[in-house]
Amino acid sequence: MPDRSRDMGPASFEIHIGAAGAMTVRAAALDDVDGIFALEEQVFGCDRLSRRAIRRFVAAPHRPVMVARRADGVAGYALLSLRKGGRTCRIYSLAVDPRYSRRGVGRELVHACERYARAWGCEALRLETRYDNAPAIALYRGLGYQEFDRFCQYYSDGAEALRLEKKLTKPRSAVRRPSKAVSDSEP
Ligand SMILES: CC(C)(COP(=O)(O)OP(=O)(O)OC[C@H]1O[C@@H](n2cnc3c(N)ncnc32)[C@H](O)[C@@H]1OP(=O)(O)O)[C@@H](O)C(=O)NCCC(=O)NCCS
Repeated sequence: MPDRSRDMGPASFEIHIGAAGAMTVRAAALDDVDGIFALEEQVFGCDRLSRRAIRRFVAAPHRPVMVARRADGVAGYALLSLRKGGRTCRIYSLAVDPRYSRRGVGRELVHACERYARAWGCEALRLETRYDNAPAIALYRGLGYQEFDRFCQYYSDGAEALRLEKKLTKPRSAVRRPSKAVSDSEP
């Protein structure tokens, strides 16, 4: 298995968010796992990721978890899913600590996801969101995501999901396709 960790390591995606105070967006490290798990528990009522699953994703060589980190802990995270040989990348999960909402953290995490997807040579980034999740829909639409499909009965309570997509421009530098090693990010 090729070692991609140097390509996709934390330094590759560091971004500082001024409006939200001293905060960095980067690929997550193992010491972020507890904070991500606590946020998952706080934000999502059901279908939550376990600590074990988060740890596995964070430790994966292709580093599919982005974290917005303050000195005192995790303020937000995003989990990406790459499919073997696929041309699209998917945002599997995105959450921001309510104490830091409407300060641009979610937007910066999505930007980091887009950088990640471009770096893997993906042509589009996709995601699903509940039909009634107004904050998430406003966030994604504001960043250029468009509805291309719907999934009926997608959530455990039977709610419908909107499928959103944004076409990505190619990076200037040459890209490498993901190896088979990335297929384990598919939840
Ligand atoms: C959706 C979520 C990630 C947004 O994070 P955030 O850091 O507060 O979002 P940002 O500050 O980056 O907001 C960016 C834009 O999104 C939209 N937005 C965000 N929250 C909004 C809200 N509560 N109501 C309306 N629009 C909202 C706005 O257009 C906003 O731009 P503006 O502040 O300049 O008007 C956050 O509310 C969250 O974690 N929700 C619970 C989990 C969830 O629903 N995840 C998404 C699953 S697909």
